[in-house]
Parts: sequence; C-alpha cells; structure tokens
Amino acid sequence: MAASGSKNAALPILFATLLTPGRVKLGRVPELKDIATTLQLLAGVGAKVSRNAGFVEIDIPRLTSTEAPYDLVRTMRASILMLGPLLAREKAAKVSLPGGCAIGSRPVDIHLSALEKMGASLRLEQGYVVGECAKGLRGAEIPFRFPSVGATEQILMAATLAEGKTVIRNAAREPEIVNLADFLRSMGGKIEGDGGTDIEIEGVAKLSGSTFDVMFDRIEAATLLLAGPITGGSAKVTGMDAGALTSFLDLLKKAGIKVNVGKDWVECSAAQNPQGVEFVTEPYPGYPTDIQAQMMAYLAAVGGVSKVQETIFENRFMHVPELVRMGADIRIEGGMAVVHGKQGCYQGATVMATDLRASASLVLAGLAAQGTTRVRRIYHLDRGYEHLETKLNKLGAAIVRAPE
Ligand code: UD1
Repeated sequence: MAASGSKNAALPILFATLLTPGRVKLGRVPELKDIATTLQLLAGVGAKVSRNAGFVEIDIPRLTSTEAPYDLVRTMRASILMLGPLLAREKAAKVSLPGGCAIGSRPVDIHLSALEKMGASLRLEQGYVVGECAKGLRGAEIPFRFPSVGATEQILMAATLAEGKTVIRNAAREPEIVNLADFLRSMGGKIEGDGGTDIEIEGVAKLSGSTFDVMFDRIEAATLLLAGPITGGSAKVTGMDAGALTSFLDLLKKAGIKVNVGKDWVECSAAQNPQGVEFVTEPYPGYPTDIQAQMMAYLAAVGGVSKVQETIFENRFMHVPELVRMGADIRIEGGMAVVHGKQGCYQGATVMATDLRASASLVLAGLAAQGTTRVRRIYHLDRGYEHLETKLNKLGAAIVRAPE
C-alpha cells in the first residue's frame, strides 16, 4: 500500500505559497477536506489555484485581501498559519482564531508573542487576530517555551521575508518542519539548522516560484501498518522513510511486532508473543501524539498490560470510552491510560468519532472486532486520511462508506 502525501506537511507548505509572487507546483498533495479548506482560504486572498493529476498549482502574483474568515478557519486550526506569511508579504493580516479538533484548549500564544517580537502589532477584534507591521517584519532572537510545531512553522515562514536574521531556539524538530524548510529553500529562502533545536533564518527580499513534492504522511503510514498486526496479519506500506517513524517502530518491536524495513517501505506482522508496553507522547523525536489512539486500539486487542501517557494535549483520550464500549479494558488513572489487553476483546458496535486520530483508532478496532462496527461522524476521518477505506479494503478489510 502506497503512503499518501502528508497532511501535516502539505498544510504549512500551501500557506507558505502566500510568501511568493512566483508560480508554485506541488506534487503529492493529498486529497483531503483540510487541503480543500486551505485552497479555499488561499483563493479568498487572491490565489489562482488549479488541481490536476496529483499536482496543485498556485499562483498569487498579488494579494487581493489579507483576511482569513471565520467560516473557513473554524474547521481547521492550521489556518492560523496564514498570519505570519500575510504579515511578511503584505504587512497586514486579519485571521480568525481557530477551532479544529476538540482535543484540548490549544492556545496560539507562542505564535503571537513571537510575531510581536518580530515587530508586528497584534490585537484581538471580534474573534479575529488583526495584525500590522507598517515597516515590515524584522529578524529577532526567539526562544520558545515549548517546541510547538505550529509556532515553528509560523516563524519559519514569517522570518524568510523578514529583514535580517531570526533565530528560533527550542524549535520543533518534526520531519514536517524540515519538509517546510526544504520548500522555502526551493523558493530561495535562507534557512539552516531545521531538524535541530536551533533554526537560523536569514531574511530575503523576495522569493521565487518552485516545483516541490510533499513528504509522505507518517501518521497515515503508521495507521495502515497497525491494521496488519491488529487483525493477526501483516501490512506493508511503500513510499515511506522508516527514519521518520523511529520511535513508533521501536515501540512496535518492543510490543513483539515483527518489523521489516526496506529502502522505502516497512512491513509489520502480528506479534507471536505480544508484550504490553509503556509509552509517553512527546515532541519529535519522541512518540507522536497523533499515533497514540491507534496504538492504544492495538494494545487493547493483544495480551499484556500497557500504560499510555499523553503529554501534548490534555483532552486526547476521547477514544477510550468508545473503545471500552467495543469491549476494551482501558482505565484512565490520572493522566495515564492503563490497558489490560485481551485478544478478541472487540465486538462490533456503533461508535462516535470525536477527533481525527480517535476516528482512526475506532476503525482499527472495528477491523479486529467480531461483527459489524459503525463509525459515526466520519467527517473527522476525511479531514486527515486520503481514501482510507479503499486502502484498508486493499489490505483485506471490508469497509463501506454509508450515508449517516
Ligand atoms: C500538534 C503536535 C503535532 C501534531 C498536531 C496535530 C506535538 C509537539 N505537536 O501540533 O505533532 O501533528 O498537533 O495533532 O506533538 N501550545 C501552547 N501555545 C501555543 C502553541 C502550542 O501552549 O502557542 C501548546 C499546546 O496547547 C499543546 C502543545 O503546545 O499542549 C503542542 O502544540 P503544537 O506543537 O503547537 O501543536 P500543533 O502545531 O497543533
């Protein structure tokens, strides 16, 4: 099964096209609701967008607006990433504060205070962040109190067109950050140190167009890989780099899953002797919060006692009550989920998806369950997984998309 392009890399890269008057051609952009929303946001400020045969072409010779309206932003938190690029190119921006997944309070204070350090004046007006920087953004030394993925992307983009040098300290190190930096460099941006904790950006006056491929989706790949072992079988995902999923694959090995790694593929086969494991979600290179729910669905369906701690988002155990309704033995004790795994625990049920990755965990549990599982509110899934049912059906699942 071929991995799709990454949603979490494609979104910031699409927002980064706001920085250039040149034409950008992007390959491996997944067909997802969040991508469609982003293209609408871009069109709303003057982008000419065309989509054909795996490519998205974007041309923004000049911006006709600097506003990201609430009706689009409310469905997708990443929209806040319009703020930095609009301020950098147009010296003004009006971006609605985001909604997105209900997995915690998810503030954007790190983004805002960093942009202020770069000379932007920001105020909150009727649910919108309104920003101006009459003299343009200027480089600054910006230490983050937490290595926020979104804030790192925001400042990377803004600093590319700022005057002088910006240094981000305690930056996020996720592979999607490196992918964004690669894209910015392909347009003429001057960036060093991405992938590490300190990133240096030397502002340039203008960026050019570019042709660029988005990286593979680590989270989709991991979800597909789990579909094999959770059903006692195996799954192979191609078009991926195992190096971007080291913490996940190491945990699978600890759990007894057989992991085979090739040059651009990974295959996972059911554990002969499943082991309970303990893991904590952490910023990269730690274990990703975006594969916490799916791993928990797996651990509940095999032998052993496991412990899962979520440190990134305070409200990210919403899949637990639904998995329990399907037969899992999972108890929340403090900030920790204790999973008493039992083979064959899942029975089909009607369950409710609550956020993107929680929905994926319910689909995985449904694959392993006796009987039919109905997952409601799959619009969450469509925000982040490209043709998930088609891909899983190719691996041997029997999934149909039904009207609610
Ligand atoms: C986070 C994940 C990312 C995942 C994405 C979607 C981490 C570190 N980040 O990225 O891997 O793909 O969700 O699920 O795992 N925070 C603040 N103020 C801010 C920004 C963030 O307090 O201005 C806090 C958040 O509340 C949260 C943590 O920092 O507790 C992680 O935030 P951040 O990395 O910015 O989140 P996303 O960019 O959404």
